[in-house]
Amino acid sequence: MTNLPTQELENLVDKIRDELGGAEKITDLERLRVAYVGKKGVLTQQLKRVGSLPPDQRPEFGHAVNEAKKTVEALIDERRSLLSDKSISQQLRDERIDETLPGRGSRIGGLHPLSRTMNRLIDIFGKMGFDVADGPEIEDDFHNFEALNIPPNHPARAMHDTFYVAESTLLRTHTSPVQIRYMRDHKPPIRVIAPGRVYRCDSDQTHTPMFHQIEGLAVDENISFADLKGVLITFLRAFFETHLNVRLRPSYFPFTEPSAEVDISCVFCSGKGCRVCKRTGWLEVLGCGMVHPQVFRNVDIDAERYTGFAFGLGVERLTMLRYGVDDLRLFFENDLSFLRQF
Ligand code: DAH
Repeated sequence: MTNLPTQELENLVDKIRDELGGAEKITDLERLRVAYVGKKGVLTQQLKRVGSLPPDQRPEFGHAVNEAKKTVEALIDERRSLLSDKSISQQLRDERIDETLPGRGSRIGGLHPLSRTMNRLIDIFGKMGFDVADGPEIEDDFHNFEALNIPPNHPARAMHDTFYVAESTLLRTHTSPVQIRYMRDHKPPIRVIAPGRVYRCDSDQTHTPMFHQIEGLAVDENISFADLKGVLITFLRAFFETHLNVRLRPSYFPFTEPSAEVDISCVFCSGKGCRVCKRTGWLEVLGCGMVHPQVFRNVDIDAERYTGFAFGLGVERLTMLRYGVDDLRLFFENDLSFLRQF
């Protein structure tokens, strides 16, 4: 007859205690619990033997088995809380954040170089008393051409490579139509600039179908060519932050008389002559002139009483000269490695 005396029960408990001490994971512990004190576990099974013992031994053995089970269950609980403490502190160690490591960093965006130039232009002219005016990019023939003294069949139209939206409706080819709109809505004295997009059906190394201009206009009694010259020289020196030379060459625009083109001494070679200025020492930067009396008549401003000057400049060109950008197309490719340099 198989009898498991109390002594053997104690040996079994010792063996279980050793095994529990070796359990390193909660799952191992659970496996041992099932194997020993679960419903079909080794210790639980011992209770079934009580009936086969001689009656006088039954109470003592039954009691011993129950005590052994309690002991083992207590050992399991103790081990479980130890393991879970250990795993928490392990987790805390593993997931510790080293606040001395450098951060991952987050890049902030920046303004497009053309926007930066636009803002600078608006700022510089603002300090000279110029307001900012706005006009539509989809224009009509009247504002873009006729009122600016460019009648149908005028040769100047051929230079504009106009995108037509419909008969007499077009994408403005310059910001000069804003002059017309502004003078129709405001009486002199007038001092405004009009920055914005313009469009020409032209695309190669040095031309994009869309580009930016700033138009300038001042109208009052006694405005002279000297005022124009003074404003432009002051502006150009402020924009390029250097005491550059400025020269005006006679030119022709239908909406100004007299007209001039303005050159600055080359910002790359200081006028000595280089590849950028084609060895001339000069860079052309803008067109200007005194408002043509016919333009005044077109907007009902008294051409006997008032005079004015106007100018127009290309924002891309100024930006390229200011920052040393040698390819116009870079402004429109959205290449971050280019844009981040500003
Ligand atoms: N609108 C001219 C162009 O796009 C630029 C210009 C020249 C504007 C002379 C002016 C000016 O106001 O007086 O080429």
